[in-house]
Amino acid sequence: MSKVNNQKIIKDMEQQAGTLDSENSVNNKSIRSVLQIVKSETTQDGEGVTLNRSFPNNYISEFDPFLLLDEIGPMHIKPGKQKGFPNHPHRGFETVTYLLEGKFEHRDSQGHAGTISAGDVQWMTAGSGVIHSEMPEKEFSKNGGKLHGFQLWVNLPKSNKMMKPRYQEIPHLKIPTETTKDGNVIVKIIAGESLDGKAVIDTITPIMYLHFKLEPGATIIQSIPKEYNVFAYIIKGKGVFEQGNNNSIVERGNLVIFDRDGKSVYVQAVKDSKVPLELLLIGGVPLREPIARYGPFVMNTQQEIYQAIEDYRNGKLG
Ligand code: FE2
Repeated sequence: MSKVNNQKIIKDMEQQAGTLDSENSVNNKSIRSVLQIVKSETTQDGEGVTLNRSFPNNYISEFDPFLLLDEIGPMHIKPGKQKGFPNHPHRGFETVTYLLEGKFEHRDSQGHAGTISAGDVQWMTAGSGVIHSEMPEKEFSKNGGKLHGFQLWVNLPKSNKMMKPRYQEIPHLKIPTETTKDGNVIVKIIAGESLDGKAVIDTITPIMYLHFKLEPGATIIQSIPKEYNVFAYIIKGKGVFEQGNNNSIVERGNLVIFDRDGKSVYVQAVKDSKVPLELLLIGGVPLREPIARYGPFVMNTQQEIYQAIEDYRNGKLG
């Protein structure tokens, strides 16, 4: 798997974006090719949580409009051993938590509290600021068990960075799920649209967040709006993706970055695999705004970062 140069990716994408206005280019190409395949790096964060981080890293600082993608676990929590993220602040962006296994409890400085379980999503718009904790739920923590999920950071446009914080907690039963007629493809629609389904979560800028499960040999052609940057993350199994005139086989734990030329993304689950292919397909309209970033604060200027730190120190954040 190749490690990538962020500047090169951006340059390549900008060049390709420039060709979108060319009729020949648009009409001749319907499938977006794979631009890069990036292996996630195993790391630790919070209080002993094992993460597979796709970005940011030394090679990709962000993938506009996304700032971070972490796979939480999969890890086993021993009974009585809390592993999570104690109190910490956020300002200027959104955190999206999607759990596949386990139970997380969330509490914040504005008195908001909630629990999310397997299949549930919490879409938190930090806006002007919250201080919150994300910890395993008490009973789950007492008994121990498997923890597996994702956290995605979505940047906010300049005009929304200081908006009032907002929470959307969507239980799994309310997340639209669509299945193809042959039953070989299932998609959970967290944001955006797929097959005949449309997400219930409201996003500040247009975002697509789809969780696909494909039986071995099954294929999808997912249409992608013209403006979107898009990537896939392989959760389980192996996927076949179109890369120029060749195909690439990509295994779990890898991020697949697509180019910006084309109307759809094509994926096939490897035929002779014993397990289905599971992947996240995530995309959004790039903001193309300056980014100033310091830990849990993501603003447009360094001055705004200093202000965030000062507000946090003075108890004015959250
Ligand atoms: Fe957080």
